[in-house]
Amino acid sequence: MSFPKKLVFITLLASAMLAGCSGDNTQQSATKAIDADSFQCIRDLTPVQRFFVGNFFGDVEATVAAAESETGAVYPPGSVVQLVPGEAMVKREAGFNASSNDWEFFELDVSAEGTSIRVRGVEDAVNRFGGNCLECHAQARPEWDMICGLDHGCDPIPLNNDMILALQKTDPRCAPMELTETESEALALLMQLTQ
Ligand code: HEC
Repeated sequence: MSFPKKLVFITLLASAMLAGCSGDNTQQSATKAIDADSFQCIRDLTPVQRFFVGNFFGDVEATVAAAESETGAVYPPGSVVQLVPGEAMVKREAGFNASSNDWEFFELDVSAEGTSIRVRGVEDAVNRFGGNCLECHAQARPEWDMICGLDHGCDPIPLNNDMILALQKTDPRCAPMELTETESEALALLMQLTQ
């Protein structure tokens, strides 16, 4: 009688391994909680525009389509959007919070060991520069579903393009990547500013 049990175990193990090998760490069931482990190497997400996207509920194509839209779109539930490793927006289930179009904001601490959540929420979520996430993101014109991009109407962030690229390339949860000289300089300047 132990044979079928073993077979089930091997099947489960194989599917777990396959899931692990797919390179897509954003697949979760709709009911699984969004916690620190939901956030992994930023570069394992799909690059679109200047940022990266995924979908915790599995529908990555719908999220990518929203992000690629040139006229704006409502992001589907489960969407995760990240410009830098330490911040994320997650589109929660419909009805989660009308004031944020159902987005939840996250400020993350990342290290080679993984991710921990420093701040999560809607109205009260503040980044490490003291800025309120919702106050800025709500400035995006309505068709952009609170995504700021470069020209959707939000106050600017104090990070230039080289700083953003350097932060994306030095996510400690990802394999190391080489920086250009200007990216290294931008990163050094950013470190000074945030100390
Ligand atoms: C001062 C205004 C401001 C604050 C405060 C702010 N953001 Fe942003 N955010 C922006 C702007 C502007 C961009 C686009 C920057 C770019 O592409 O260079 C952006 C980009 C992003 C993006 C990429 C998608 C997009 O909207 O372009 C995410 C995700 C994000 N911010 C999350 C957060 C989170 C989470 C917080 C709070 C912890 C936060 N932001 C606080 C203005 C702000």
